[in-house]
Amino acid sequence: MIYLSLIVTLAALFFTYRILSRTSRYLRLAHIPGPLPAKITTLWLTYHQSTGSLARHISSLSKRYGPIYRIAPNWVITSDPAAIRQLWSARGPWHRGQWYDMFRMDQPVSTVLSERDNHKHAALKAKLLPGYSGKDVDNLHEAVDRRVADLVQLIERKYLSDDERGVYRPMDLAEKATFMTQDVISELAIGRCFECLVHDRDTYGQMTGVTGSLPLVITLATIPWTLGLLQNPLVRALLPKEKLEGVVRQQELAKKQAAERFGKDKVVRRDMLGSFVKHGLGHTNAWLETFVQIGAGSDTTATAIRMTMFHLMSSPGSYKRLQDEIDAAIREGRVSSPIAEEEARRLPYLQAVMKEGLRLSSPVMGLLPRICDTEQTVCGVRIPPGTNVCWDAISIFRNQETFGADADVFRPERWLVEMEDVDKKSMEFVQGLVFGTSGRFECLGKGIAMLELNKVFVEVLLRRFDFALVNPLTPLTSRDYSLSLQTDLWARITRRHVHS
Ligand code: HEM
Repeated sequence: MIYLSLIVTLAALFFTYRILSRTSRYLRLAHIPGPLPAKITTLWLTYHQSTGSLARHISSLSKRYGPIYRIAPNWVITSDPAAIRQLWSARGPWHRGQWYDMFRMDQPVSTVLSERDNHKHAALKAKLLPGYSGKDVDNLHEAVDRRVADLVQLIERKYLSDDERGVYRPMDLAEKATFMTQDVISELAIGRCFECLVHDRDTYGQMTGVTGSLPLVITLATIPWTLGLLQNPLVRALLPKEKLEGVVRQQELAKKQAAERFGKDKVVRRDMLGSFVKHGLGHTNAWLETFVQIGAGSDTTATAIRMTMFHLMSSPGSYKRLQDEIDAAIREGRVSSPIAEEEARRLPYLQAVMKEGLRLSSPVMGLLPRICDTEQTVCGVRIPPGTNVCWDAISIFRNQETFGADADVFRPERWLVEMEDVDKKSMEFVQGLVFGTSGRFECLGKGIAMLELNKVFVEVLLRRFDFALVNPLTPLTSRDYSLSLQTDLWARITRRHVHS
């Protein structure tokens, strides 16, 4: 009897504690609006993240709740570009939230993507910068040219349709874009190209690995303690092995390549890995940064290629204007073959198209929470210490005050019209958030991504071929798991005869 009363008392104490802690969690941010379920439980956020449409859902709610609102008991989200400037500022007090632990998982040390301490992050980033900037890397541009040429050859070999001869060979541009970016990044990162384009398949299982693991990991990251479950051997045994095989193979390859750079007979090369080692990274840090680089540099740039092509194929006026600009530049000898990056930078409409494609379809959508150890004010609202503050990428990039009433529309011309300096600067700043803000939280691979984009649209996609959507009513499938992932962007490709 005495045991029963003890159990009842303990249970009552436990439930009282739970109710009190839930109530205090609720009240902490009670002054911030948001959907009722999100104020009570994190499961609202977890559920929407698991559907692969969190960014779109959040953006639709911002119209109802305003520039800052609650998406979980301890999480808020903002669609105000000025607030993002504050949160991501290089000298501000904000640092990354626990959500970033998903990038570390069971890795022995933090990488530049998972490090949450601002000082340690800055020290690590300083060692990586010379490699990422291309300063220590030979033949960066030639490496990109080679992969772009592989894509041209693949199209020539397998995917050219010909109306006159009744040949129809559609190509999934979503897949081939990832093949190209993987081939580029593997060559730059470890000096060994994955050759996805040559073999026309996902040779190292990168795509299967990303699509197989990202939805689960990103969903669990909304309740960070659950990430620990993935390290439990019993839970691991339940995960689909074939989908994770690619991740394991890439880790092994990165480890092996890095091992060659250390010891008595070490290989010294002027590639990115060589640069990381030169600037003081040990074996473990070096292979992990290489592994991270392949993950961070593949689907992001591939999304930029796919989605910009998708917007072009759906906007015949813009497509034609860009093709005319390229044709004129070739005729007048302003473009070599393959195109050099400086030449591409001098094509104003191409630059506008690239900006607009990235703005409307940001490859990184997600939540990127920052927290602060002291109380702050964001969008005029009090934010208690330890609150996760995230960005609503879609609303930010479609902000009508910045981009005008047609902010939802793909219109590269908006970047070319004469306007007040202040308006232009504001547009450039907000669009630039696609790569984070300069300094502390800026994308390390921005230069490499822009190099690929500057070449691929001219060289592959528009100089030689014409692209048309195969399924205009359902042109592609797009989901967002912090990274945007698209599949099934089927295109019909025919040869252009203008420059042959
Ligand atoms: C269009 C393509 C790309 C976009 C839009 C993009 C976007 C971003 C964004 C928004 C961040 C900041 C994330 C944060 O605040 O936590 C980031 C970080 C990063 N990106 Fe990219 N990225 C792209 C391509 C690449 C490429 C090609 C590479 C590798 C070569 C790369 C490597 C990285 C790394 C290592 C970081 C972490 C930087 C740090 O923590 O300081 N990215 N990227």
